[in-house]
Amino acid sequence: MKTLILNGSPRKGGDTAALVKAVKAHLEGEVEEIFATESNVRPCTDCRYCRTHQGCAIQDGGAALLEKIAKSDRILIAAPVWFGTLPGELLSMLSRLQSQFSAEFFRHEGKLGAPKKGAILLAAGGAGSAEGAIQTATILLKQMNAAEIFPPVCSLKTDRLPASEDKAALAGANTIAEYFNSED
Ligand SMILES: Cc1cc2nc3c(=O)[nH]c(=O)nc-3n(C[C@H](O)[C@H](O)[C@H](O)COP(=O)(O)O)c2cc1C
Repeated sequence: MKTLILNGSPRKGGDTAALVKAVKAHLEGEVEEIFATESNVRPCTDCRYCRTHQGCAIQDGGAALLEKIAKSDRILIAAPVWFGTLPGELLSMLSRLQSQFSAEFFRHEGKLGAPKKGAILLAAGGAGSAEGAIQTATILLKQMNAAEIFPPVCSLKTDRLPASEDKAALAGANTIAEYFNSED
């Protein structure tokens, strides 16, 4: 069983990192974490090459990223909330899922690998709602063929209570690991 963590935070010791650490502490099987801020995946240009061709016109790390997603059984999107949604660099990296959208809806070649379990882990300072980020993460997970998505786990007031001290969110992170560890 392989879990892929897609981390949208630029802060290695930040709030998202604290929540991800709590998930990883209980996670079984192979785990790989990809940081959007370190990825060599450029954003989709909507050139529409993929509407009629397999793969992508952009030659970079995008193909390898989609291959990793396809071969994973569990996907975790972990990120801070930025302006009510996911950080730009995570959205930029995952915009390359558009080639999978084309594979499915224009070329009729099916979904991305086997059905997976998905989960969403968010940190937010406390300025507004995380609903936009949850909605976007859900769309992305479905594009990755997450057939099931666990209820989002969020630490929503990190300006006053760092995620590393947010007991409810840390407990929620543990439940994501339990959900991922279970066979069905
Ligand atoms: C550019 C930017 C935009 C942000 N937008 C929001 C927001 O819309 N709502 C919110 O509650 N917090 C917002 N925050 C605060 C972060 O979500 C919060 O500090 C979070 O805990 C950081 O997580 P990290 O340490 O994992 O990066 C924003 C922070 C930055 C830097």
